[in-house]
Amino acid sequence: MAGFGMLIDILKKDPKKIVFTEGTDPRILEASSRLLAGNFLKPVLVGKPEEIEKASEEAGYNIRGAEIIDPDSYDRFDEMVDLFMELRKGKVASREDAAKTVRAANYFGTMLVKMGVADALLGGATYSTADTVRPALQVIKTKPGNKIVSSCFIMVRPASTGDDEVLCMADCAINIKPSEDELVEIALESAKCAKIFGIDPKIAFLSYSTLGSGKGEDVDKMHNACAKAKAAAPDLAIDGELQFDAAVAPRVAKTKCPDSTVAGYANTFIFPDINAGNIGYKIAQRLGGFDAYGPILMGLNAPINDLSRGCNGQEVYSMAIITAALA
Ligand SMILES: CC(C)(COP(=O)(O)OP(=O)(O)OC[C@H]1O[C@@H](n2cnc3c(N)ncnc32)[C@H](O)[C@@H]1OP(=O)(O)O)[C@@H](O)C(=O)NCCC(=O)NCCS
Repeated sequence: MAGFGMLIDILKKDPKKIVFTEGTDPRILEASSRLLAGNFLKPVLVGKPEEIEKASEEAGYNIRGAEIIDPDSYDRFDEMVDLFMELRKGKVASREDAAKTVRAANYFGTMLVKMGVADALLGGATYSTADTVRPALQVIKTKPGNKIVSSCFIMVRPASTGDDEVLCMADCAINIKPSEDELVEIALESAKCAKIFGIDPKIAFLSYSTLGSGKGEDVDKMHNACAKAKAAAPDLAIDGELQFDAAVAPRVAKTKCPDSTVAGYANTFIFPDINAGNIGYKIAQRLGGFDAYGPILMGLNAPINDLSRGCNGQEVYSMAIITAALA
């Protein structure tokens, strides 16, 4: 992937620690053994040492050197509960409830990041997106200046020439029905993320209409969001509302919107809602030959990412590098 070697170089200069919430999962163990061998990103596995060691032996992965932290015997557990109570003031009924919540691996791992024990977190090999993301929303929270956490996928179509095609698609995983202002934030965050992966962002606000060819509330929403994004970031190449063909096909763009500098060449796509986004990136992945990296969460105070439950060890390894490099 464009920029992937660069991410490894960043980590080699400044090695980080990444928490995996599902310490016994063979895919996590495979990725951990590769990371340990590479020596640029240290895995922290949540779980019982004897269970993790047994699972790694059974799966045939060497995880010697990995840090294993068991919530049931963690020496800073009381401190963790105190911090959680403070962060969730008024939202947690009792200390007992707080202790029960942070004992669960998804919350425990997130609290390790909050306490600075690790720099980043990758979960979701077995947890749902909501169960991986919710602790981050509650504990890590949005960065100053951001109102929402959103997500993008980096889509890579490998080319035999080595000149891979790299696109950014958002928000395909978190915000179900983003408002106009939320779409603006998603677009501006996506532009930043796209740049990290070597994309010079040309941002299309997608719709079933191209610059007024269709009518309706959803068309207005994308049109208005696009206008607001242009006003907020005049230096970025942004256009919309655009149909997908006008966004990516120069010939169609020439007919439908000849004056657009984005249409025909868009590489950063802002979808109107999670239905369109989630279906869209999966079509590119399953029928278009693109590898999908993400969802990459944007706007959080610390890098925390979610895996697809159908992921393999290679995907865990790649997502771990992406996540930690964002730290
Ligand atoms: C992200 C998501 C899990 C949050 O859902 P939830 O936990 O039910 O959300 P809640 O409304 O209960 O909010 C929980 C907390 O997160 C915060 N929050 C919710 N969405 C947020 C967002 N996009 N950005 C920042 N904070 C957010 C809420 O303010 C709330 O904070 P509080 O507890 O301090 O008051 C939900 O939007 C979702 O399910 N999205 C779709 C996930 C999915 O299925 N994706 C497809 C597969 S990839």
